[in-house]
Amino acid sequence: SAPDAVRVMEVGPRDGLQNEKTILPVADKIALVDRLSACGLPAVEVTSFVSPRWVPQLADAEQVLAGISRRPGVDYPVLVPNLVGYQRARAAGADSIAVFTAASEAFSQRNTNASIAQTLERFAPVLEQARADGVRVRGYVSTVLGCPYQGEVALDDVVQVASALHAMGCAEISLGDTIGVGTPAKARAMLRAVAGQIPMAQLAVHFHDTYGQALANVLACLEEGVRVVDAAVSGSGGCPYAKGASGNLASEDLVYLLHGLGMHTGVDLAALAATGQWLSGLLDQPNRSRTGTALARQ
Ligand code: HMG
Ligand code: MG
Repeated sequence: SAPDAVRVMEVGPRDGLQNEKTILPVADKIALVDRLSACGLPAVEVTSFVSPRWVPQLADAEQVLAGISRRPGVDYPVLVPNLVGYQRARAAGADSIAVFTAASEAFSQRNTNASIAQTLERFAPVLEQARADGVRVRGYVSTVLGCPYQGEVALDDVVQVASALHAMGCAEISLGDTIGVGTPAKARAMLRAVAGQIPMAQLAVHFHDTYGQALANVLACLEEGVRVVDAAVSGSGGCPYAKGASGNLASEDLVYLLHGLGMHTGVDLAALAATGQWLSGLLDQPNRSRTGTALARQ
C-alpha cells in the first residue's frame, strides 16, 4: 500500500523572515522561495501583505510575489490581515491567502490592533471576495497553547476561534503555538478538542521550538491524525509581536522525522538542508536545524 503522506507547509520566507532586523534583498527572497519549491515542497508561504509599518521586512511583498517562478501544483499562500491586504495581494497575483487571528485577546490586540471579534469582522469581506475569486483561504489561530501576555489559553477559546474561521469558509485551519510553550500531552488534547468540531483533514499544526518541544508535539499530533504540518527551513523565525518567541520548527528536522517514520513528503531532504545552510549564511546566523547542521558536516 502507498505510504502515509504528510503535507509540509514551508513558512520560512514569511514566518522565518518577518522578525529579522536586517532586510534581506528582494532577489534573495525570490531565490529562497524558488529553491524551496525546487526541493519538492507542496506549499511555500511567500510573504505577507500586512502593514509595512508593522512588519518592515515584508514591505517588498509585491516584488517578491511577482518575482518567483511558480511550479505547477505548488501552493503559494500569502498572509493577509484585512481587505486592503487582500486587494494588494490580488493585484500582485496571489491565488492563495492566509488570514490570521488568535485564541488570546491580549495577543490579538498587540498583533493586529484589534479584538478577536474585530479580526473576524475584517475577514468577512475578505472571505466573501476570495470565494468569488476562487482564491484558497487558510486560517491561522495563534497562541493555541499559551499567550505571552495572558498566559494560559482556554481550550474552549481555541475551539471557538477555529470553528469561526472554518464556518467563514477557511479551507484549512492552522493551529499555532506561537511562543512554543506547549508540550505533547497539551498539544494532543488541543488538537483532539478542535477535531471534535472540524474534520482532521482540514487541520494543520504550527509549532515554534522555544522550549525544544516542537518535534515531540508534532509526533503527538501525527498520532492523533493530523497530516499537514507547518515548518520553516533552518528553524528561522518568530513573531515580532510575540515577546520571547523563538524560531519555528525546522523543516529539515520535520522531514527527517517523517521519512524516518516511513511517511511520504515528496521533499528532497539533501536539497532542503542545502537551502537551510545557504539561508543561514545570508542571515549570518547559526543554522537552527539539527538535521541541517548534521547533514552539512557530512
Ligand atoms: P492599524 O494600524 O490598526 O491599521 O493596523 P489601520 O486599519 O488603522 O490603518 C492604518 C494605516 O495602515 C492606513 O494607512 C492603512 O491604509 C494602512 P494611512 O491611511 O495611515 O496611510 N494599512 C495597510 N497598508 C498596507 N497593507 C495592509 C494595510 N492595512 C492597513 N494590509 C494591521 C492593523 C492589521 C494592518 C496591522 O496591525 C498589521 O499589519 N499587523 C500585522 C502583524 C503581523 O504581520 N504579525 C505577524 C504575523 S502573525 C504570526 O506570525 C503568527 C503565525 O505565524 C501563527 C503562529 O505562530 O501562531 C501566523
Ligand atoms: Mg508562527
